[in-house]
Amino acid sequence: MSAFDLNRYLEQCQRQVNTRLAFWLEQQNGLAPRLVEAMNYATFNGGKRVRPVLAYAAAAAVGGDPLQADDVAAALEMVHSYSLVHDDLPSMDNDDLRRGKPTCHIAFDEATAILAGDALQCLAFEVLACSPVELGAEVRLRLIRLLATNSGTRGMAGGQALDLAAEGQTLTLEALETIHRHKTGCLIRASVAMGALTWPQVSEAQLSALDHYAQAIGLAFQVQDDILDVVGDTQQLGKQQGADQALEKVTYPSLLGLEPARQKARDLCNNAVAALADFDQRAEPLRQLAHYIVSRSH
Ligand code: IPE
Ligand code: IPE
Ligand code: MG
Ligand code: MG
Ligand code: MG
Repeated sequence: MSAFDLNRYLEQCQRQVNTRLAFWLEQQNGLAPRLVEAMNYATFNGGKRVRPVLAYAAAAAVGGDPLQADDVAAALEMVHSYSLVHDDLPSMDNDDLRRGKPTCHIAFDEATAILAGDALQCLAFEVLACSPVELGAEVRLRLIRLLATNSGTRGMAGGQALDLAAEGQTLTLEALETIHRHKTGCLIRASVAMGALTWPQVSEAQLSALDHYAQAIGLAFQVQDDILDVVGDTQQLGKQQGADQALEKVTYPSLLGLEPARQKARDLCNNAVAALADFDQRAEPLRQLAHYIVSRSH
């Protein structure tokens, strides 16, 4: 029995991070209005804000004040939004629908979409460096390093490179897992760790348990994304259903079949929840989020 209302929690976190995103994006006006317009377009277009929510929930789980995680949440969503803009480019997944609207390069143009992604990524690091939240220099550096390594060659960008190279190829399950853990799992790992790190009293033992949780839901998130590409509905997804098959992407359903892929997602969810065994009720949002990630319909 839990009085925790996940939908209310999601809405509250979404409102909170949107306020912060607006604060930082407003400061970008001046030099290049069309670029900033594209950045706003790519950010304020109905994303679920899962990474910010995970950061807030991780801060709460370790006993912290979620308000401390505000700018970390905004920085994570900036990197995520940039990754989607670039993921949709003609040279990558070549998609024209994202979050229910034309993709950034369709609504603007390709060069502007590339630059909007670049600038969103830079802004994320500027936010971490300049955030007025009192974090301490050492924590700030740790946050910057976490976001950098999890977004770069050993993280999301590396995973995206492997994903593109694998189109039309046959892959082992192990190779597919590596791609998914990097292209999607890494930023989710960073989200949980960074949220928790905004609380100065967090212990290394807590961070380690949270990382087990984050690794499990990070992979589960992409397994469910693959499943939704098969069974989802374009309108509800806000992106084209069937896009993976059209691009001959190797996915969990294509490699394992739909039901084993669903089972894999459920197993990962259970592993994630088990990793939180030593946490009290303040980890309830993280526990519920694990279930949400594998049961969501968009
Ligand atoms: C989609 O991410 C891309 C992946 C990493 C699987 P989300 O499903 O979180 O997309 P938004 O932010 O809600 O649009
Ligand atoms: C994208 O994976 C992961 C990112 C780093 C953006 P997908 O290519 O499967 O994401 P969707 O399905 O287009 O949202
Ligand atoms: Mg992709
Ligand atoms: Mg894609
Ligand atoms: Mg996908």
